[in-house]
Amino acid sequence: MIHTRVSGTGSYLPGEPIGNTELIERYKLDSSDDWIIERTGIRTRHLAPAGVASSDLALEASRRALQAAGCEANDLDLIIVATSTPDYIFPSTAALLQHKLGNDNGAAAFDVQAVCSGFVYAMTIAEKFIRSGSHKRALVVGAEVFSRILDWSDRGTCVLFGDGAGAVVLEAANEPGILASAFHADGSHHGILSVPGQVCGGTVTGDPFLRMDGQAVFKFAVRVLAEVAHEVLDAAGMTTSQVDWLIPHQANVRILQSTARKLHLAPENCVVTVAEHGNTSAASIPLAFDEAVRDGRIKRGQHLLLEGVGGGFTWGAALLKF
Ligand code: ACO
Repeated sequence: MIHTRVSGTGSYLPGEPIGNTELIERYKLDSSDDWIIERTGIRTRHLAPAGVASSDLALEASRRALQAAGCEANDLDLIIVATSTPDYIFPSTAALLQHKLGNDNGAAAFDVQAVCSGFVYAMTIAEKFIRSGSHKRALVVGAEVFSRILDWSDRGTCVLFGDGAGAVVLEAANEPGILASAFHADGSHHGILSVPGQVCGGTVTGDPFLRMDGQAVFKFAVRVLAEVAHEVLDAAGMTTSQVDWLIPHQANVRILQSTARKLHLAPENCVVTVAEHGNTSAASIPLAFDEAVRDGRIKRGQHLLLEGVGGGFTWGAALLKF
């Protein structure tokens, strides 16, 4: 049987961290450092400079993941980028990344659009390709420049997000790896979190900014994150007591704490980066994953539970032995 293992991780954040007070002054927001920290846990975020696109952030994160995996761009036969802020309408950010990386062996490259669940979706897809035997080594990236779709006069959303990218290399292996994964969607909730605009006849029609019903998102997120965690644990015949690290989508520290509590996981077993990164949507899970690998918290052989929830609504989880 073919298994799938994570052979390397990488991440990248653009520029210097921007604190809440600096952000409030820059955009003349009626807010405060205390309010943002108390309601979200966020202290800083990174914002990509003008002209820097998702594929640029993805490139840096991917180079680091390839180096950690000990392989080169042409060793990849599959490249998937999870993003809701692609460089272009088309071609895909994955195809642009393939070119920037110098992969010229005809690897498949495509984007996945599942907003903040995008990385878990992409990882689940790549795992199925590898397990089927059709592909041997995949680069899975979450990359976002959410700063481009924020309404900087809407204090209820613009303080929450940041830009960044994270990447993993997945490869075929004899031993497990990814033990179980699941992904779901319920489009009836599309209205509580969306960017309801489009390009039509050369102009933007509708609303090109992120809109959110924060309290509805909060309740939905906590419910489905607990459900999907149990789904993958049950599929693998494991319990939460066997999970070394929970690596959740980094939306809001209160969502993370509620989810960990519901799963009876100690806060110390939860990787939390939202304070420094803000919510980087599809990039947040691989960013947190890479940070905890590089600072030595996550070690080979440990069991990791990755899970995400995002606009759509979409949600998913992956349980793996690192
Ligand atoms: N600074 C100061 N006041 C603010 C700010 C701000 N940045 N934002 C909103 N407020 C005000 C509101 O205007 C409101 O004022 P009012 O009472 O005069 O009308 C008051 O604070 C309370 O607003 P609520 O929306 O009820 O505040 P709440 O406690 O729900 O916190 C928040 C808002 C932080 C958005 C919360 O609902 C939340 O965390 N929701 C989850 C949403 C989330 O994380 N989304 C991320 C994207 S989705 C995802 O990644 C899955």
